[in-house]
Amino acid sequence: MTTLGQDKFTPPQHQGVALKRKMLVTSALPYANGDIHLGHLVEYLQTDIWVRFQKMRGHEVHYVCADDTHGTPVMLRAESLGITPEALIDRVWQEHTRDFAAFGVAFDHYYSTHSPENQALANHIYLALRDGGFIEKRSIEQMYDPERSMFLPDRFIKGTCPRCKAVDQYGDSCEACGATYSPTDLIDARSVVSGAKPIRKVSDHYFFKLSDPRCGAFLRQWALMDGRLQTEARNKLKEWLGDSDASADNSQASSSDGQAIVDVDANASKLADWDISRDAPYFGFEIPEAPGKYFYVWLDAPIGYYASFKRYADDRGLDFDAFTKAESPWEQYHFIGKDILYFHTLFWPAMLHFSGFRAPTNVFAHGFLTVDGQKMSKSRGTFINAKSYIDQGLNPEWLRYYFAAKLNASMEDIDLNLDDFIARVNADLVGKLVNIAARCSGFLIKKFEGKLAVSDTEAMAEFGKAWCGTETLAQHYEHREFSRAMREVMSLCDAVNQYIDQNKPWELAKQADQQDRLQVVCSTAIRAFAHLMRMLQPVLPNTAQLALDRLAVGQRGWDSIDFSSDADLPEGHQIAAFQHLVTRVERKQIDALLEANRSEQKAASPESLKPSNASTTRTGVSQPNESAQSDGNANLPPFIGIDEFAKIDLRLGRILEAQAVDGSDKLLKLVIDLGEAKPRTIFSGIKASISPERLIGKLTAVVANLAPRKMKFGVSEGMLLSAADESGQVSGMFLLEAEPGAAPGMKIR
Ligand code: 2FM
Ligand code: ZN
Repeated sequence: MTTLGQDKFTPPQHQGVALKRKMLVTSALPYANGDIHLGHLVEYLQTDIWVRFQKMRGHEVHYVCADDTHGTPVMLRAESLGITPEALIDRVWQEHTRDFAAFGVAFDHYYSTHSPENQALANHIYLALRDGGFIEKRSIEQMYDPERSMFLPDRFIKGTCPRCKAVDQYGDSCEACGATYSPTDLIDARSVVSGAKPIRKVSDHYFFKLSDPRCGAFLRQWALMDGRLQTEARNKLKEWLGDSDASADNSQASSSDGQAIVDVDANASKLADWDISRDAPYFGFEIPEAPGKYFYVWLDAPIGYYASFKRYADDRGLDFDAFTKAESPWEQYHFIGKDILYFHTLFWPAMLHFSGFRAPTNVFAHGFLTVDGQKMSKSRGTFINAKSYIDQGLNPEWLRYYFAAKLNASMEDIDLNLDDFIARVNADLVGKLVNIAARCSGFLIKKFEGKLAVSDTEAMAEFGKAWCGTETLAQHYEHREFSRAMREVMSLCDAVNQYIDQNKPWELAKQADQQDRLQVVCSTAIRAFAHLMRMLQPVLPNTAQLALDRLAVGQRGWDSIDFSSDADLPEGHQIAAFQHLVTRVERKQIDALLEANRSEQKAASPESLKPSNASTTRTGVSQPNESAQSDGNANLPPFIGIDEFAKIDLRLGRILEAQAVDGSDKLLKLVIDLGEAKPRTIFSGIKASISPERLIGKLTAVVANLAPRKMKFGVSEGMLLSAADESGQVSGMFLLEAEPGAAPGMKIR
């Protein structure tokens, strides 16, 4: 059970009046080998809304982020693509920045952890910790791939579960029975990279001594005494620091790569040391004075926040030190997913504090995203890629609004219920908000050259009673209670619509003696609309910009939201005609989105060929770990063993019939002879690339043992293979054809 409620933390005030604040704000750095999906967007949109709100309040905010580029998965993926890690991370950087921009996530700077600033800062922090007595070198034994000459993170080892005997389980835990163990306990363990049997090998590793009593004392003060962190996070910290009466939940008290953070015994807990080095080959930064040893990706990832800010500050002549050095008077906030709380509330503050930097002012964790009440799923098409949302023509501001309407300050998961999404966007944004302008602006344009009369002051005063007021709304934004903020804004929309209903401008328009009243009613509603758009500016920046442009008022600060004055839109002010600000969502658009994500999955990387490290973050699909950098949407997996390949029954099939599927833009229905008693029906998403007539008679590659899948149009009994260019330079899908002499049913190996 999580505890709801606002943070105890209150931002700096000066005798009750908010100071002009200066803030450094970050969102977690996405891994550089996977696509941005809607699970990620919960966090970036939450942060972006908060930052936009703070900027509207007149504060100085610097919102920075970067790609998290280092580690084994990036190295292996680049290798499998035949490119350098640098080329891979450049490409992913382009994709990520494109997706963020499409959703209106307005970073002040978006950088990379593979940067000179990050290397310099990582070295500096490491050396300061070493000089302070916080680094220790120890020999440890690990699993090693003798064929690839590399140490294997737990998730790169698979085998049979020692407890339930389920095959194909990871080196650290069994997905079938939930057992956790060490890779040495696995039966028939093998390297996911080469298929070789791993051996044990000893190597020197560097540890950050979190067990040093100075760390516990500092973290206890920082996390528990100073009133920061959400209630749920504070409770977790108490557990990790051994200050909780509640018996510690060991499964939670481990870091994402399976390293214990706390040793829990009957009476006391203490923080365990953290292994911060990895042996070559590794894509990362070599540790100073330690040849062949590299900083573990999680060491330099959070430092990437500072590196991004450093580059940005240097480019703009901002004082980096004033924000980052110990005793900085300014604020520093990190928005993160609840899965990486330990990194941000234990390691990161301790690293900063003991290397001469300031610790974060606060860390704000959010829950995972579920879709229709379930974990995001590739087979259901609910693992929705940001690009596909945009490519399907869906409005990013629908999602911004929907997430805002669901988000609060807790770490509870949020659900994207697709029917609710449609209903809420249509009812709130189209039916309530945009409807105000649609109902009133036309009369002003047609009858009064777009010019405003004075306001109906009584009505304006009434509106003031229909909601919480500007300052309380600001507090809801401040405390990340966005759902409350959206409820208040919608109450005000209701009040304005009721005013329009009561005054019936469409009837006033027909009465010659009511023209003045008509102008006043419409002017009043339009002024309220302008205020509503400003209140929603952090959530709907694009729509607000369009609306305020039509109203010819521009974007002003939060203080311009004032129902007691017409100063902003004075009598005689001229507005322009409105066009569709926000359109309705249709169910068929959502269905197409799901289908696109299903087909993409089929076309790009068959489920059975997914990397064995297909864990993913920020969705709750599975816990992150050392290999979690592949967040499931990577286009190419790392190596698989021959036994994994052998699980796929690939056969030649002769296409006997091919026809378009009514109601689908993508699918063809194929009847294919696989040399069995009865031909199979297979639906394939190749309609756009190949006409049905061209397919008939072709002998091609089919996955014969893909579980039958019930689709809207019937059951698909296999999968056709085709080739496509990942870079997008050559469009279309290309069928594979067997040479003459081959026959249906032949096995492809
Ligand atoms: O969990 C993740 O997606 C990590 N790449 C987040 C890193 S955040 C920070 F510490 F760099
Ligand atoms: Zn098991």
